[in-house]
Amino acid sequence: MGFEHTSVMPQEVNEHQNLKPGNICVDCTLGGAGHALATLKAILPDGMLIGIDQDLDAIDHAKKILDPFKKNVRLVHSNFSDLPQILNDNGITGVNSILLDLGFSLNQLKNGNRGFSFNKNEPLDMRMDIRNDLTAHEIVNSFPEDELVTLFFKFGEEKFSRRIAKKIVEHRRHTPIQTSAELAQIVTKAIPAKFVYSQRIHPATRVFQALRIAVNRELERLEQFMAIVPSLLLTGGRLCVISFHSLEDRIVKQALRKFEAGCTCPKELPVCLCGFVPQMRSVFRRPLIPTKEEISANPMARSSKLRVAQKV
Ligand SMILES: C[S@@+](CC[C@H](N)C(=O)[O-])C[C@H]1O[C@@H](n2cnc3c(N)ncnc32)[C@H](O)[C@@H]1O
Repeated sequence: MGFEHTSVMPQEVNEHQNLKPGNICVDCTLGGAGHALATLKAILPDGMLIGIDQDLDAIDHAKKILDPFKKNVRLVHSNFSDLPQILNDNGITGVNSILLDLGFSLNQLKNGNRGFSFNKNEPLDMRMDIRNDLTAHEIVNSFPEDELVTLFFKFGEEKFSRRIAKKIVEHRRHTPIQTSAELAQIVTKAIPAKFVYSQRIHPATRVFQALRIAVNRELERLEQFMAIVPSLLLTGGRLCVISFHSLEDRIVKQALRKFEAGCTCPKELPVCLCGFVPQMRSVFRRPLIPTKEEISANPMARSSKLRVAQKV
């Protein structure tokens, strides 16, 4: 099956990246390379795009899509939390724009064969980077029950975490849970029927989200990245982050708030002793969200939020 891409908020991202020919930009989450292609077109003829993805399939796909511009592109199979090292390796001290379009791609969901979708019967894997060791199979079949409860609650905000973890442990006592479809069925059975039918989303959505976040250490990597982002941008450089759930958005929002605040001294002090100065400025107070038209054309955009900030 071919590689699909449906970039979220493409016009908004393109407009607010504020790109000019000759800019150096980073797409930290290439996926189907839709945003990357638009970025490249805005920085030609002599700009440079560093494209990163932790999924080798995405890198291979981007190689093909971006081939006509290969002189202007460096593709790196890595985690975006390694960006300082990647820039260093390329002799770059600061960039004009960084894009993070978080979460998983349509291709991973539809063609990944790694158990990202509860609608498919695939091996329970969920690794975006198959060089890592931890899989969803290992978590589901070996983590103690109380750790499963915490994981589903913390990363999925799942209110039936206890019931679901209990059912999983009961099931695996007889036979290991091998596939995404088996897990989806166990989760559905664990949730009281009146909640199964009253929700707008599939009953296993939150458990699948929690497992994916845990397997890929998604929040940890995002926190590491956000803690150093001002040091990667040139003055006036822009950061665009598209998040898909409140756990991601909270990390981005809190990090930006800290960088915007500057001095942290108590108000009573006559002079600043901490020495912190504002490093970033949010371009909008509230995040942008996709239009109704975009959501009806691309339901995956439904919960997305775009935050844009500029290095001062
Ligand atoms: C939503 S898709 C990006 C879609 C892309 N913007 C487009 O236009 O098609 C997210 C991609 O980011 C990658 N990804 C997620 N977290 C990552 C991380 N910490 N480091 C590197 N790549 C990551 C995933 O493998 C996936 O391919």
